[in-house]
Amino acid sequence: MAEAKVKAPRGTFDVLGEESSRRSALEARARSILEGAGYERIETPVFEATELFARGVGESTDIVRKEMFTLEDQAGRSLTLRPEGTAPVCRAYVEHGMHKRRQPVKLWYLSCFFRRERAQAGRYRQFWQVGAEAIGSEDPAVDAEAISLLATLLAELDVRDLRLRLSSLGSLASRREYRERLQAYLHANEASLSEDVRSRIELNPLRAFDSDHPGTQSVMRGAPLLREHLSQDDAEHFAHVCELLDVAGVAYELDPTLVRGLDYYTRTVFEFTSDALGAQSGVGGGGRYDGLVEQLGGPAAPGMGWAAGIERIMLAGDGLGAGRGGGAHAPKPLELFVALDGPREELRGAAFGLVGQARSAGLTAQLDLAGRSLKGQLGHADALGARFVAIVGDARTVLKDMQGGGQQELATNTVVHQVLRAHHAI
Ligand code: HAM
Repeated sequence: MAEAKVKAPRGTFDVLGEESSRRSALEARARSILEGAGYERIETPVFEATELFARGVGESTDIVRKEMFTLEDQAGRSLTLRPEGTAPVCRAYVEHGMHKRRQPVKLWYLSCFFRRERAQAGRYRQFWQVGAEAIGSEDPAVDAEAISLLATLLAELDVRDLRLRLSSLGSLASRREYRERLQAYLHANEASLSEDVRSRIELNPLRAFDSDHPGTQSVMRGAPLLREHLSQDDAEHFAHVCELLDVAGVAYELDPTLVRGLDYYTRTVFEFTSDALGAQSGVGGGGRYDGLVEQLGGPAAPGMGWAAGIERIMLAGDGLGAGRGGGAHAPKPLELFVALDGPREELRGAAFGLVGQARSAGLTAQLDLAGRSLKGQLGHADALGARFVAIVGDARTVLKDMQGGGQQELATNTVVHQVLRAHHAI
């Protein structure tokens, strides 16, 4: 009886074929843009102490309340598959004493993340983000540069129908004052609010702006706005960020109701959305998190960063097709295919050696791995688009030029030299 097939879990997917080369192209663009701007690649562990996210991302967020994959190790320590990258990067900044380096420390990543969400198009339980974090400076130029870099990346990948929404949440102090004012307003209008918003008035009143409940939305239209309660420092900081984005030619809409799903934000927040994506329209977003490093036990070090979803970029981006970035990253054409003409047991060693020599010389090379007949091997070489085929026989090797059509007999150990010569002549 045939066994039932084991399938990939809900909300996860395999990456292969064309999809895999589009991703490589995206990674190459991200690397070139971010490393060109002085960002250094960082990899952090796939799982972290649960406390990192509880403290960093915030107990009141959906992510911490219901979306984390949490497990316990043998010693009873609680571990969580990372749902996002900013808290881990800040943890690493503290753990490696990076505040002693020249500031800001600029780090980028392209990694997978895990959230126990209801899976749908553009929303997965394991997904990938490209992200950038600059820690150690509160200069508005850091904010504007980070936003411009993401704008450049998305533009180069031709992400369609893109909008950038921008706002400032103010510093922690001005936010605290505003929070109290907003809480008082929400309490005064409690009867019209959704159950969910009502239950979070104390923990996270700002999320009320994000609600799709009609009663809540109507209350929120009259709510006090944070923008009107920014301190002078915060307002000036935000004005500088806007000025610099203007200089960089990055178009944005000011949206005082912009709310992000993580608690660590202060001052600048932003989000890129694409109308081409439907319900899950967030392509990427981020902002400043001036208190996070300290909250994780580190020195006072302001931070700014963003992350963008790879799958959403791929859904909304036209710039990764075979002719564009994808072409730059398409596998190198096959330069040499080594075929055997005679008993495999006797010739395999010579063929294997020849492929090794060719690869050491920088050529792309393959050999028959399926015991095909000579005719079958030549057909396979043709299907792979091989430029040359070396047919290794008992006493001699024949080198066939699959494009030019000629062929010559050679000593096996001169084949690579001959292919390289022909290559340079092309
Ligand atoms: P986030 O907005 O939660 O921010 O996620 C950033 C992006 O990741 C989203 O805009 C979306 O494209 C993608 N994304 C999120 N969840 C999913 C999912 N379930 N399936 C597919 N894609 C998803 C952060 O994660 C912050 N760490 C960003 C940041 C960095 N802020 C400061 N520095």
